Amino acid sequence: MTYVDASTVPNKNTGAIKLFSPQDFAEMKKACLLTATCLDELSKLVVPGVTTQALDDFVFQFGKQHNAVPATLNYRGYTKSCCTSINHVVCHGIPDNKRLKKGDIVNIDVTYILDGWHGDSSRMYYVGPVSRAAERLVEVTYRSLELGIEAAKPGNHLGDIGYAIQTYAESHRCSVVRDFCGHGVNKLFHDAPNVLHYGHAGSGVELKQGMIFTIEPMINLGKPAVKILRDGWTAVTRDRSLTAQFEHTIGITADGCEIFTLSPSGYTMPPYI
Ligand code: MF3
Ligand code: CO
Ligand code: CO
Repeated sequence: MTYVDASTVPNKNTGAIKLFSPQDFAEMKKACLLTATCLDELSKLVVPGVTTQALDDFVFQFGKQHNAVPATLNYRGYTKSCCTSINHVVCHGIPDNKRLKKGDIVNIDVTYILDGWHGDSSRMYYVGPVSRAAERLVEVTYRSLELGIEAAKPGNHLGDIGYAIQTYAESHRCSVVRDFCGHGVNKLFHDAPNVLHYGHAGSGVELKQGMIFTIEPMINLGKPAVKILRDGWTAVTRDRSLTAQFEHTIGITADGCEIFTLSPSGYTMPPYI
């Protein structure tokens, strides 16, 4: 039992891969557009001196104005509306009263639930001008996501996505984090399949029209190893090297894929101007 018609199964993760209808795609796109619009708005707020808590407050309020709730709020004990991961923080950075400073790079990861559907996306932001090393890492990470997305089409396999990301990142002397992966996303925040950001061409399950999942590579300038801080959430690079991540939610179509979380302002990589 690998693939199932999403309309015929309970709203839970049984390990089967759900295939969604065009109507479901339309619902997902609404949630994803709201998330992308929030990420666009955040680009104006990410400036030296702002606290990550102020960014989190914005994410909560913006959702409220649009009848959406952040999926991370009270998710497995997490109590914030987004994740803010600065410099050597790989993911799941917890917003707090620390201020962003000139030269930081920060990933903001937002998931809204709108009419029951989850829109999950993250981007990197520059806090003022950043080092050339940081720019290079962010560029490599963004391009690795693009290449992963290009490999996401019917007939290809999940491993083709990971392979595309890994070969590109490693050819630029960067490393791929192994401890976190992309995931099915729908009425559930995290569903089957796991989408690894490394792997072998042709391996894993075959991609079929109707699948919806995220691709969200975390790429390090140093070694791939990660550790979790005592707060139980914050993941950092063990060698404290810089790390970056971008995430899109995509749907597999008849001949490729559709990116549901594209920026309505046309933003791609920072700086967003
Ligand atoms: N948004 C993250 C993802 O891309 C998950 C965050 S879960 C949290 O899957 F609890 F840490 F917020
Ligand atoms: Co995700
Ligand atoms: Co996310």
